Amino acid sequence: MSESEIPRVPTGVAGLDEMLGGGLPAGHVVLVTGLPGTGKTCLGLQFLFSGAARGEPGVYLSLEEEEPALLASARQFGWPVDEVVKAGTVKVMRLDPKQTHQNLQRIQSDLAKELKALGAKRIVVDSVSLLNMLSDDEPSRRNTLFGLAAACRDSGATTVLTAEADPLHPTVTRDGLSEYIADGVILLGYSSAEDGHRIGLSLRILKMRRTAHARTVQPYRIGSGGITVDAKAVDFGRGP
Ligand SMILES: Nc1ncnc2c1ncn2[C@@H]1O[C@H](COP(=O)(O)OP(=O)(O)O)[C@@H](O)[C@H]1O
Ligand SMILES: [Mg+2]
Repeated sequence: MSESEIPRVPTGVAGLDEMLGGGLPAGHVVLVTGLPGTGKTCLGLQFLFSGAARGEPGVYLSLEEEEPALLASARQFGWPVDEVVKAGTVKVMRLDPKQTHQNLQRIQSDLAKELKALGAKRIVVDSVSLLNMLSDDEPSRRNTLFGLAAACRDSGATTVLTAEADPLHPTVTRDGLSEYIADGVILLGYSSAEDGHRIGLSLRILKMRRTAHARTVQPYRIGSGGITVDAKAVDFGRGP
């Protein structure tokens, strides 16, 4: 399939869609990684609620925040959260990291069925870092992540996985694994001046299989309407 033929799924962040040539390639599993506070959860919510505005059902698998807190964040950005949730277009599934065994089984066996039944076109998993903490060893961590990515791909939806960046090496994830499982990686980070002071946020697309994409570092903001990426501006500091 040639590049121009891959259908696109707009992220709801106009500048990012421009950098991606229209949006995320449909059916891909894309990782969004960054340090805490860089807007991974905001981006996930924006992806789902902008899809809902187009009538596309979405599922938010939350391992970190409870549904009321997540919806409160989305409401703050001015999106019609209650209507969309009531209509069933967006569904929050909470996976409690404390219920380890049950969760792993569910991910490996039931998730694909549940996603299909819901007819999800968009999936967000926030975050795979917490999911990784459920496993005791490397092989089971890998199996869980592969299982999750496979369930998402099989469902036919387009997926955003979030992961914490490694504080010492913020261009890679803490687990060092998610980026290889994902079809694409978007890196959110703090721009810093030469003296190391953080002076803003900037974004970079590290990889996106089967498509060309911008490789520049672009500044973004988290404002009252969500995330905006300035795809025209050139970043001012040392980006992520
Ligand atoms: N309504 C809002 N208006 C402006 N900025 C916001 C709003 N909500 C969140 N933020 C900003 O987003 C940051 C948190 O983003 P979040 O998506 O939770 O990050 P992450 O998931 O990467 O830890 C906050 O620290 C704040 O700076
Ligand atoms: Mg978060």
